[in-house]
Amino acid sequence: MLKLPGLIDPHVHLREPGATHKEDYDSGTSAALAGGITLVLSMPNTRPPIFDAETLDLALNAAKQKARCDYAQFLGAGPNNGDWNKNRDLPPRAAGLKMYLDSTFGELRLDDMTLWMPHFQTFPKNMPVVAHSESRSMASAILFAAIYDRPVHIAHISLKEEVLLIKAAKERGIKVTCEVCPHHLFLTAPSPLHPSPSGRGDGGEGRLEVRPRLATQEDVDSLWKNLDVIDCFATDHAPHTVEEKDADNPPPGFPGLETILPLLLTAVSEKRLTLDTLIEKMYTNPKRIFNLPDQPETWVEVDEDAIYEIKAADQFTRCGWTPFEGWKVKGKVRKVILRGQTAFEDGRILVPVGYGRDIRQEKS
Ligand code: NCD
Ligand code: ZN
Repeated sequence: MLKLPGLIDPHVHLREPGATHKEDYDSGTSAALAGGITLVLSMPNTRPPIFDAETLDLALNAAKQKARCDYAQFLGAGPNNGDWNKNRDLPPRAAGLKMYLDSTFGELRLDDMTLWMPHFQTFPKNMPVVAHSESRSMASAILFAAIYDRPVHIAHISLKEEVLLIKAAKERGIKVTCEVCPHHLFLTAPSPLHPSPSGRGDGGEGRLEVRPRLATQEDVDSLWKNLDVIDCFATDHAPHTVEEKDADNPPPGFPGLETILPLLLTAVSEKRLTLDTLIEKMYTNPKRIFNLPDQPETWVEVDEDAIYEIKAADQFTRCGWTPFEGWKVKGKVRKVILRGQTAFEDGRILVPVGYGRDIRQEKS
């Protein structure tokens, strides 16, 4: 039996408020626990989006009643909430600020760089800023971090050019960190040479829609090769129902909370990754980058030798599918202890709704 610290996922979409048919704080945090994750940072592209005191309260009230693991909620950067000097009390109550610099699911998007500036200037420098920024907008986000002398965390990198530019920026001392998602490490986009998607067991093209898009084998290889440049593993757990994914205009996003650990443990067993690297990127680094407190008496017990098939039918997420259906993995979460209580054991969630704590609340 392998013992790991309670793992941290700094990038999840729990869909509350507004789209609880896809997920809510109860189902999403149950999925986290089943995946060996005891602390999640929740994204603000909900309906309504989380961007002021009223909407933050909406999300935090739902979380307080329903969460089973610990959490914090991100604020979203909008066109009208850029002056954080007017709202100094709000950032410390949140996980940090999420900036959507490229288009994706939801309404939060900052098209114009004049809209980025006040957020970079006035969001407290000791609080995390996360940018959804792909390719050239990622380069711009890094330039902003340098100009305004504040850290920026780049969400879900997927491209060779991105990992190479972050490497160069870090070498110059720019305060940039980044995360990568399992789907960008284990899946590639369908191509003319390889028309069948590498995600086996999927229904159709709609299932493969995700932002950033799945990339080429060369990109995937480059992420693995430059793993030391990447600070965190994050799921970008973005559940949409099977019906939505298989209909016209499928929304982008994959569930991931229950598959990240078995996929990465399988990579450990194949010697593509060390266990120390896994712990660093799923615990030590996110804890430091996002300034997260200790979770006392918290750990995860894993059967390293258990081999099994990933099945959507076994998952707690409400979305009803996984891009990794049928994948054979090695390493199964047996038990999760959260703050002294057994929260998950052999497929069952054992803590009630409301057990999860707002880690930003604890601090103040
Ligand atoms: C996310 C979602 O569905 O909320 N989708 C996705 O493809 N990653 C939005 C996002 O994180 O960009
Ligand atoms: Zn996301």
